[in-house]
Amino acid sequence: MIMIITALLRKGFVFMNIMMSDVGNLVENVERDVVTWRRHLHKNPELSFQETRTAQFVYDTLQAFGGLEVSRPTATSVMARLIGARPGKTLALRADMDALPITEENTFDFASDNPGVMHACGHDGHTAILLGAARILSGMRGELAGEVRFLFQHAEELFPGGAQQMVDAGVMEDVDLVIGAHLWAHMEVGLIAVRAGELMAAPDTFGITIIGKGGHAADPEHTVDSIAVGAQVVTNLQHIVSRQTDPLKSMVVSVTKFVGGTADNVIPGTVELTGTVRTFDPQLREMAPVLMERIIKGVTEAHGAAYEFRYQNGYSPVINNDEVTKLLEESLKEAFGETVVRPALPTMGGEDFSAFQKQAPGSFFLIGAGNGSKGITAPHHHPRFTVDEDALAIGVKAFVAVTRHVLSNA
Ligand code: NI
Repeated sequence: MIMIITALLRKGFVFMNIMMSDVGNLVENVERDVVTWRRHLHKNPELSFQETRTAQFVYDTLQAFGGLEVSRPTATSVMARLIGARPGKTLALRADMDALPITEENTFDFASDNPGVMHACGHDGHTAILLGAARILSGMRGELAGEVRFLFQHAEELFPGGAQQMVDAGVMEDVDLVIGAHLWAHMEVGLIAVRAGELMAAPDTFGITIIGKGGHAADPEHTVDSIAVGAQVVTNLQHIVSRQTDPLKSMVVSVTKFVGGTADNVIPGTVELTGTVRTFDPQLREMAPVLMERIIKGVTEAHGAAYEFRYQNGYSPVINNDEVTKLLEESLKEAFGETVVRPALPTMGGEDFSAFQKQAPGSFFLIGAGNGSKGITAPHHHPRFTVDEDALAIGVKAFVAVTRHVLSNA
């Protein structure tokens, strides 16, 4: 009996190895194209909600693979459906496609041709990776039970974001689970990180106008100095995180803009502040504007000034579903080995992948794309940001592996 089990296990093991090297070969076959697509996209970046040529490129490339039902859910997004040979679950895979208003400082020959616009977050790579996965999987239709829905999303970088628009257009109808990934410069290429639960925070924003009374800088007693009051407001807002909230619940309050004044001898009547609040916990998120306004009101009143306060909730936090993350982790470990797949640390950055996760359980994971030895160290949103292109094949393999894992045994 034991011998039979051992034999079966061995057979299974060999079979699995063949399957995995199969995927390896398939990925090798598309790797060069994926790099070419990424470079084309990098050279031709487009801002959020303006991804016209990008979407057309993705649409045409997907059409050329054959076997996919390709459509345009919104003006600048693309969806491709791959219906497997047998019925089963529907798995959505998502990539974002938009660039940022940054002037690129990289000097390689595929640097941005669009002045002031740059793929400085890796979304060019995400799009190329998902195209690569779509090409491989479209040749495996017979093996799949269920449906793969490839979501090429516009406008991740600009609130209210493209994800919600795609959801409103119906792309998540009948989807059972959703998976997305981000190339991650903070992690070395060759590593992948997953995490159940909190991964990315809710990025909310605020604006404050401090209303004082302007006048001559030599006669402060006849003014209400909006700059001095504004400075007190900034300082006191930092007491929220340090003194008023649970230290075990993550929160960030950052004032990022402080604008006021025109000359060295004029006290300005008003100053404008803007900034961001980041949280995971829904209660803390709700409390944030209340705590802020209490401080703004108290400080301005204490100095005889007035205020206006505006607060806007941004994307929901990315909270990964336990079961989907487990499936994802299993398939990645099967494809890459135990040591490659690490636990991800949560970040206070935001992501509108959360809009898809509200429609179906999902998991978002990180693909290492930095490489100190090649000098690829610039952080995301930096004018010299780039990715190690070896990460692209890893991303393709990851999406193919998880799709086969989820849709092969329905
Ligand atoms: Ni990004």
